[in-house]
Amino acid sequence: MARYLGKETPRVDGIAKVTGQAKYAAEFQVPNVAYGFIVTSTIAKGRIAAVDTAEAERAAGVLRVFTHLNAGRLGKAGAGADGWAWPLQSDRVFFSGQPVALVVAESYEQARHAARLVRLRYREEPHQTDLEAVLSRARPDPESAKAKPRGDARAALQAAPVQVAAEYRIPIEHHNPMEPHAAIAFWEGDALTVFDKTQEVYGVREHLAEGLNVPVEKVRVVSPFVGGAFGSSLKPNYYPSLTAMAARALRRPVKVVYTRAQMFTGHGYRPATVQKVALGADRDGRLQAMVHEAFHNTSAFDDFSDATTRFTRQVYACPNLDAPLKVAATDLPTPTWMRAPGAVSGMFALESAMDELAYALGMDPLALRLANYAETDPDSGKPFSSKALRECYRIGAEKFGWARRSPQPRSMRDGRLLVGWGMASSVWGAMQMPASARVVYRRDGSARVASATSDIGPGTYTVMTMIAAEFLGTRLDQVQFELGDTRQPRAPAQGGSWTTSSVGSAVRGASLAIAGRLLALAQRDAASPLAGVRADAVEMLDGRLRLKADAARGVDIAALMQAAGLDEIAETHEAKPSAERANYASLAHGAQFVEVKVDPDLGTVKVTRVIEVSAVGRILNPLASHSQEIGGVVWGIGMALEEATEVDDRYGRMMNANLQHYHVPVNADIHAIETIFVEEEDTVVNPLSVKGMGELGMVGIPAAIANAVYHATGRRVRDLPITPEKLL
Ligand code: MOS
Repeated sequence: MARYLGKETPRVDGIAKVTGQAKYAAEFQVPNVAYGFIVTSTIAKGRIAAVDTAEAERAAGVLRVFTHLNAGRLGKAGAGADGWAWPLQSDRVFFSGQPVALVVAESYEQARHAARLVRLRYREEPHQTDLEAVLSRARPDPESAKAKPRGDARAALQAAPVQVAAEYRIPIEHHNPMEPHAAIAFWEGDALTVFDKTQEVYGVREHLAEGLNVPVEKVRVVSPFVGGAFGSSLKPNYYPSLTAMAARALRRPVKVVYTRAQMFTGHGYRPATVQKVALGADRDGRLQAMVHEAFHNTSAFDDFSDATTRFTRQVYACPNLDAPLKVAATDLPTPTWMRAPGAVSGMFALESAMDELAYALGMDPLALRLANYAETDPDSGKPFSSKALRECYRIGAEKFGWARRSPQPRSMRDGRLLVGWGMASSVWGAMQMPASARVVYRRDGSARVASATSDIGPGTYTVMTMIAAEFLGTRLDQVQFELGDTRQPRAPAQGGSWTTSSVGSAVRGASLAIAGRLLALAQRDAASPLAGVRADAVEMLDGRLRLKADAARGVDIAALMQAAGLDEIAETHEAKPSAERANYASLAHGAQFVEVKVDPDLGTVKVTRVIEVSAVGRILNPLASHSQEIGGVVWGIGMALEEATEVDDRYGRMMNANLQHYHVPVNADIHAIETIFVEEEDTVVNPLSVKGMGELGMVGIPAAIANAVYHATGRRVRDLPITPEKLL
């Protein structure tokens, strides 16, 4: 029935991207732009005792060197004196890699050269960057603490006939999008325009208005293309305010681009976690108790929590549960959300522990999951608005050949290689945030659609174009969708995998409002074939407004608009989550089946086969959606086997701040990946029936791989990444 929704659609912005016409933040051409280069601290904690910028200021092309001694004020007076809210506002150093100066020059090269000539002397203070060393100082995360324990988990654990308990560790990891963070700022009188790499133009706008003390309406933030972000641009980072401050002081446009090394301290990271999981079950494998205690680090000046244990409460039916999260301060930058934040860390621990429980019970790992299948939300008791996880397990197991698995570790081989089969469940939210969109429909059937969302890569331009074309009854090429500008209607950050549900609902709503306006126009004529017809009974298609039930009954839209003297009509719609949602629990689910081959002499692991099955509502664009899940699997492989930010705690510094030593998967690491969707009809979550799907794809993968590695080798690796030395 649908013309576009559900059909494979290539990216509408694909050609612009591959031909270089898509402009990223640093690529906008602004006349007379000056270049800023950030100087970062070399100590982890202390104060700047002396600043010598004389040599840097004498260097060719240098316009000014900003430090805390001469930088314009950012934020309210006193802000940053005790904490670190805004850059260059005090002599305090809270982490290694903190911005301590900004050199602005006529060219990037001149600024970068002069940055090396800035001399800073520090008064160092003792620092602590090791999460293990501050565990005892961890404090309950207030948000997670709102969720109370269920039953009496510790007593039930003691009483359970079968128990497992273990600790799991994940190191700090960094988003490494291709595009570095960048901003260009310029002032026209008291009006500020900033081109920024961001997942939320409205968020950056409010941040800059506060930081530079100008009215919000005077700030415009533009970000039409983002070369990957994964959470690293959810919060406004420090560089846009720094750039805008410098542009104001110099009365010139200024551009600042992070180096790759600066991307390791400039926007947060996935926090390091220590997780203690204890599970108790009866002999049939039914969970009696789950205790999942997580710790992660934050900075010394800012709170952050990624809600590591949040989904533990909803994954399995279990009467007794305690899943607290505690957060401990370290002298590192503040962490932030990174792809599938919390969920992928928490589920690595929980789904590894479930595998350990399966072995303790002598039970098949999939059978154990099924024995604890949550038919209703164990946390709220509410029914799920939809949940096809059982079907995901069934299809995944069948496709993978799970029934042929011999359960004993080290029992399957391929020549000299050890073969391991592992599985895990995944879970993510099905969230919707308030969002607005505007549709301008023209008499010729073309439309301009706008919402200030972002497209960090998942295909938002494409799916919004599809939704508008579907409900306006136009061709795809007649719709122009625009995003990433605070002049457009407000949209939430692109994060949480909620964009299609939120912004898509707004685009749908605005398109239907156009149809409603046209119907009202038609009904001015008492003789109209649509007289007396309700708005939900009509649809737009190929320039006609017609009855859904009787295509022959309708009117020509162009003629209708012409008669009314209208060249175009515009509607703005704000979509909000429906009240009905409150009666249900809504989650996205998935099941992963993984094969690894381990070289017993070298300890190397290859992920040779992955079957990933997801239930995420309806799939609007299968092409982009499969790409999202494949990307999730690839990232899960990286997290399981490769990714780690190495901190040298003696210096409190991240040591591998580059893509040579921070390992991510390359083509040679990736083998067969099959992604499958089990579609769900779920009009409770939103009228488009879509759930969050971008982040889900990686959630179960690290655990499934660790479980497969155990099956292959008999070695249970509980600290990621699973590097070769851990298997020798
Ligand atoms: Mo989402 S944490 O912005 O990938």
